[in-house]
Amino acid sequence: MSSPGEESRSGDRSHGSTERRVFNFSAGPAALPVEVLERARDELLDYRGSGMSVMEMSHRSKEFIDIAERAEADFRELLAVPDDYAVLFLQGGATTQFAMVPMNLLGDRTRADYVNTGSWSTKAIKEAKRFCEVNVAASAEADNFTHVPDPATWSLSKDAAYLHVCSNETIGGVQFHEFPEAPAPLVADMSSDILSRPVDVSRFALIYAGAQKNIGPAGLTVVVVRKDLLGNARPGTPSMLDYAVHAEADSMSNTPPTYAWYLAGLVFEWLKAEGGVAAIAARNQRKAAKLYDAIEASNFYASPVARHDRSLMNVPFTLADAALDKTFLAGAEERGLTNLKGHRSVGGMRASLYNAVPEAAVDALVDYMQAFEHEHG
Ligand SMILES: Cc1ncc(COP(=O)(O)O)c(C=O)c1O
Repeated sequence: MSSPGEESRSGDRSHGSTERRVFNFSAGPAALPVEVLERARDELLDYRGSGMSVMEMSHRSKEFIDIAERAEADFRELLAVPDDYAVLFLQGGATTQFAMVPMNLLGDRTRADYVNTGSWSTKAIKEAKRFCEVNVAASAEADNFTHVPDPATWSLSKDAAYLHVCSNETIGGVQFHEFPEAPAPLVADMSSDILSRPVDVSRFALIYAGAQKNIGPAGLTVVVVRKDLLGNARPGTPSMLDYAVHAEADSMSNTPPTYAWYLAGLVFEWLKAEGGVAAIAARNQRKAAKLYDAIEASNFYASPVARHDRSLMNVPFTLADAALDKTFLAGAEERGLTNLKGHRSVGGMRASLYNAVPEAAVDALVDYMQAFEHEHG
């Protein structure tokens, strides 16, 4: 069994005798590539001869403008973002986007369509109701959010300003593996699966993501928005909640989250060096398949999610006897497998397998699961 302390191809390794890197399955904030942390460490006190940390730099300085522009260019390259889309580096988390989307995209319409696939969709719907009439075009709530409702059954409005989906429900572990054709502009919360697989950005009017899973540290929110949708914010919209204001100012209308932006840039460089989004998607497929196969092969572990809609990023699973959950988690911690406790609303376990979680982490988890079943099953 490989352990987190061992040198591994995917970069998880300990530094010296006092540091111990664990395999971190956190749903977010989540594991960052160790190469990125090492680079940040090396550049912490003196960023490339500037004599200061990126944290201490003016966002108007040449050094920081270079960092910001490089990060945006790399992000655009990684996701193949077309030129008619703005990429914004904002604050406020994905939760602020639950409000900014209706505030900016409703225009003179009064209704928006939402598909409800879980906790995060539910929150987005609740917030949108402050601004407009929400048509819940489909909901999996009656089935405990264990699948994506079949698009053939969605009841879409004729006059919706947009259709909102959550591409990956971080808590329930339900993911869209295809995106349906929709008459209204498609908006997606991709907080927990952005950059984990290729997506055709041109299919979307707007994509948003809190950074703290696949992009970088918390404090940064990335928005990709088609430029023709800018400039229609509802009257009274605070300027900091108006996409057009941020787009106009290259996301520097006020002081941006500079250090988080810099770290996101390092993550983008790392991802390019790993072969880009297609290469990481192949690795993510392998990682998730190993874990789901182990769950399927056992009578002890179970996944509550319909096969077709299982998330490659967040894998909830239950033990045959919930009374063993605590023992399972304690044993996992001892082996350096951390943050496996399921969300309080779902229970059981959840392993988040974001880009920076190495394949060796999944191998170690599967080994542990098999040993645990052998002992307790
Ligand atoms: C899918 C999804 N949407 C929205 C959010 C809320 O993000 P934030 O905490 O950045 O506001 C999260 C947070 O985990 C999430 O997973």
